[in-house]
Parts: sequence; C-alpha cells; structure tokens
Amino acid sequence: MSQTKPVIIVHGGAKTISEDKVEANHAGCRAAALAGWSVLAQGGSAAEAVEAAIRVLESDQTFNAGFGSTLNSEGEVEVDAAIMDGATLSWGAVAAVQGVRHPIAAARRIMEEKPRLLVARSGERFALEHGLEMCAKKDLISEEQYEEWKEDVEVLDRPNTVGCVALDINGNLAAGTSTGGTNGQPQGRVGDTALVGCGLYADNRLGGCSTTGDGESIIPVVLAKSAIDALAGGRHPDEAAQQAIATLQSRVEGEAGCILIDCQGRIGWAYNSEDMAVAYMNEELSEPATFTGKEQPLAAA
Ligand code: GLY
Repeated sequence: MSQTKPVIIVHGGAKTISEDKVEANHAGCRAAALAGWSVLAQGGSAAEAVEAAIRVLESDQTFNAGFGSTLNSEGEVEVDAAIMDGATLSWGAVAAVQGVRHPIAAARRIMEEKPRLLVARSGERFALEHGLEMCAKKDLISEEQYEEWKEDVEVLDRPNTVGCVALDINGNLAAGTSTGGTNGQPQGRVGDTALVGCGLYADNRLGGCSTTGDGESIIPVVLAKSAIDALAGGRHPDEAAQQAIATLQSRVEGEAGCILIDCQGRIGWAYNSEDMAVAYMNEELSEPATFTGKEQPLAAA
C-alpha cells in the first residue's frame, strides 16, 4: 500500500508581533514543527504529532498557551485546549482548567477515552487521575505576564492561541488548538478553542484546520468548519482559508487566522490581524519554513 507524504503546519497566533518578538516567534514555531515532524517521520500518527508540536508551544512563554498564558481578571492562568482526529471524527477538550502543564495532552487522553469537553475541576481531576503532568497554578504564570497584569498595560503582541494540523503517512489528519484565552478575561470565560467546529476541525475526507483569534467572533461563524467546508470541490486550502477569514470579517468583524492542510497534503493559511506566526514542514524541506506574515497567497505562488 502506498504511503501518504506527511505534512505538518503550526501557528503561534494571529496578533501584532513587535520587532523584539519576531525571532522568538520564528524559533518557537520552528521548534514545534520539528517536534511534530519527528513523530510523523517515524511513522507516528497525526494526533501524536499534533500533541508533540503543541506541547512545545505550551512550554514557550512567547505564546499564549500553557506556561506564559495571559492572566484572567483574577490574575490566574486558566486554559482551554482541544484535539480532533480526522479518521474517526473523535475529539476531546478541556476548558478553564488550572495547574495542568499540557492541556493538549489532557484533550488527547479524553479523545482516546470518551469524546467530551471537561471544564474546570472536572478537567483537572481527569488530568490528575490519568497521570498527566500537574503543577502549582502559579507555575504557569510567567514573570512578563504577571508584570503586565499587575500594571494593566496595553499588550500588543500576545492576544492569542497556538495550534497545529498534521497529515500522517496513513493519510490521517488531526488538528489541535490550545490557548490561555483573552487578556484579563473573566474567570470561567471560554472562547472558541475548546469548541469543535470553531477552534478546530478535522475530517479525512476534506482536511484539517486550527484557528486563532477573537473567540467571540470565531464562534458565530464556526470558523474551522467553515474553512473545511470551503475545501469542497478541490479548492486550494489557501483560498479556503482566505474565504473563511473574509466571511468572519464581513459578518462579525474581529481578528482571526486559520491554518489548513487538505486531504491531498496541500497547506494554506490566512489572517486579518497584523501578523501571524506560522511554520510548516514536509519531505521537500530540510528545515521548517517559518513566517510571521504572508506576502502573497500560496495558491498563486
Ligand atoms: N481564540 C482564543 C479565545 O478567544 O479564547
């Protein structure tokens, strides 16, 4: 049986990236793409690769996920994450959890056990009972985030979310997304990231998508599923991504971005924020290609 050529794409969020953070965004997305790529290159599954890549982004305080997440109004890190398998349409998610080092790992374990969304104490208990890495709540707070919260400063470069889509050698797709939510959000506020169809979607028949941006704008346009539906008829993923973002902009405004891989292994992404950190890797490349912006559509390239 012939093998599919694996592909992985990651994002570090749709946002404004200040000059002094450009290098860190490239380096973080590159490291995440490489971690996921190493799983795919050894024949691992798309879901394993997505978890491996997102774990790297959750450990990097450059990004708003896991350690270094934005703080809520009470000065706490409260995170959401979800993953979806395009072969089975299985999924798992956690929301508003604290003290879970890698929320994407919890989401994946939930997906494997029984698809559902576990919120707050229920998600934390699941992670603990399944032997996932726990930490003190304060251990997910970076010094920079704490200072910004304390000073209540206007922050340009970290409003958002990380994600990954992967296609493995068996032709299976998976998508995952992880976030610390929005700056100063009320305790218990949950955006799009944990919601299948909004923050992520994967279906082997069409493609996989992870989104980033204002949850309150992404939810009403069901952004990830809209982008996947736009792949119908063989549309290039870059065009599908642009179409989904244009719909969001025209219907509800707000800032967002999305990354896609279609079932043929073609990639695409679009955003209407100032910048968006992205990296992808495939067999043709010796190193991940990394970006903090995009000058021209991939379909036209
Ligand atoms: N996109 C992340 C959030 O709105 O919570």
